[in-house]
Amino acid sequence: MSATTIAIANQKGGVGKTTTTINLGAALASFGIPTLLVDMDPQGNATSSLGIEKKAGAGVYEPLLAGKDLSSRVVATNEKNLWLIPSELDLAAAELELSSQDNYLINLRDSLHNLTQNYGLKAVLIDCPPTLGLLSMNSLCAADYLLITLQSEYLALEGLSQITKVIEQLKQSGANAGIQLGGIAMTMYDNRTRLSYEVWQEVNNHYPEEIFRTAIPRTVRLSEAPSFGKTIFQYDPNGVGAKAYLALAKEVQNRFFS
Ligand SMILES: Nc1ncnc2c1ncn2[C@@H]1O[C@H](COP(=O)(O)OP(=O)(O)OP(=O)(O)O)[C@@H](O)[C@H]1O
Ligand SMILES: [Mg+2]
Repeated sequence: MSATTIAIANQKGGVGKTTTTINLGAALASFGIPTLLVDMDPQGNATSSLGIEKKAGAGVYEPLLAGKDLSSRVVATNEKNLWLIPSELDLAAAELELSSQDNYLINLRDSLHNLTQNYGLKAVLIDCPPTLGLLSMNSLCAADYLLITLQSEYLALEGLSQITKVIEQLKQSGANAGIQLGGIAMTMYDNRTRLSYEVWQEVNNHYPEEIFRTAIPRTVRLSEAPSFGKTIFQYDPNGVGAKAYLALAKEVQNRFFS
């Protein structure tokens, strides 16, 4: 069976994409699912959150432009079953250069396909930048599913139509006919406020099939872990953040990997 690829995206910044990518990935890996994380954000937050250094020439930049083999870009993390293709300093330039290529949308898909086949990977999670430029488009073209993270706050749904429209366009144009909205994960949920609950309800009304039952709570531990280069399971394994990401990962496993 080939790998299931999930792009974690939202053009809105700071909504928990990266935190979700690494901790969801770590949880899936702990279930025994060989998982690859791909850091497609020039900011490189997923890379540094895992304690891995951004180095020139170490990421997808060259393979993305030249359709080259990705296997030399895969690095091990300190979690078993979890690998990373790091971001790199030049990734922002790829965004510009890609636009002059014929096959500018599908290079990542082709390279990832070969990689996952050769290495027996089962899950690929792509951390997208907070834009809908070509790096995100390549990620969405490589993905079977889009997973959107939404911050549990007023106007969370605003902007959602923009990204769901992009999905429709990718389908209709044939650029990625198979992509589906796979899920919506609510992040930074504050169960002391009525607002978080109301936002959850509102998203649930619009997307009852897609929303995950698990909302990720707002907890300072989740924001501290990256500065130690650790996942939440290494930094605070018994805390509410770890429990929530484990529960979310179980839902993801049931939805996509069972
Ligand atoms: N559940 C949470 N509780 C507390 N802080 C969180 C939580 N999730 C994320 N954060 C913090 O909020 C900030 C934004 O999160 P994150 O980097 O995951 O978002 P993002 O969508 O990837 O951002 P960007 O759009 O810049 O890539 C980070 O400082 C992160 O540590
Ligand atoms: Mg991010």
